[in-house]
Amino acid sequence: MDVNDAISGRRSTRDFTAQAVDDQSIRRLIDAAVHAPSASNGQEWTFTVVRDQGLLDRISEAAKAHLLATLPSDPRSDRYRTSLSDPDFQIFYHAPALILISGIAQAPWVVEDCALAAENVMLVAYGEGLGTCWIGVAQGYLTTPEGKSALGLPATWVPVAPIIVGHPTTAPRPVARKEPEIRWVG
Ligand SMILES: Cc1cc2nc3c(=O)[nH]c(=O)nc-3n(C[C@H](O)[C@H](O)[C@H](O)COP(=O)(O)O)c2cc1C
Repeated sequence: MDVNDAISGRRSTRDFTAQAVDDQSIRRLIDAAVHAPSASNGQEWTFTVVRDQGLLDRISEAAKAHLLATLPSDPRSDRYRTSLSDPDFQIFYHAPALILISGIAQAPWVVEDCALAAENVMLVAYGEGLGTCWIGVAQGYLTTPEGKSALGLPATWVPVAPIIVGHPTTAPRPVARKEPEIRWVG
């Protein structure tokens, strides 16, 4: 697939078929991830692949509870509070797989490196007919000692990009983009 088509066609997917994502597909996504640029070519990222639905359910419940306990009380948080309080809401949308991209805590550009790797995962997944979504609501909990322990992450790792992957039921609706604010200087 042409890179421009991948960039403009990729959409966050929140509705998946029950079809599993095979090991080879996951490997191809991770191979794409490691082709991302990284600061000083440090490549200090690690990939945790979770397909155990019971574990994803447990992490979802813990992440919702963690967020509910830590959300500030302001109007912007209220819309999150409603869905987080819904027992039927699973933050991973029952996707068949989660790829969590983590980095080494001491790496100075850990977030940038992992986010670039994540974008490669999402674009290549789209090119392969797979759907993805970055699940930011998982990050707070996964960063706690309990969250790291749930996935066996060493304390020195920082979970940055939890990306769900699966086969979309239907093509997600396009999401409008704002006009970019561009200042041409000079
Ligand atoms: C850092 C980050 C965190 C996100 N967290 C969530 C999330 O927790 N749950 C969710 O459904 N979508 C999440 N998204 C997806 C965004 O809602 C989505 O990218 C945005 O609405 C634009 O839609 P598109 O990806 O289809 O272009 C997140 C995206 C990013 C980049």
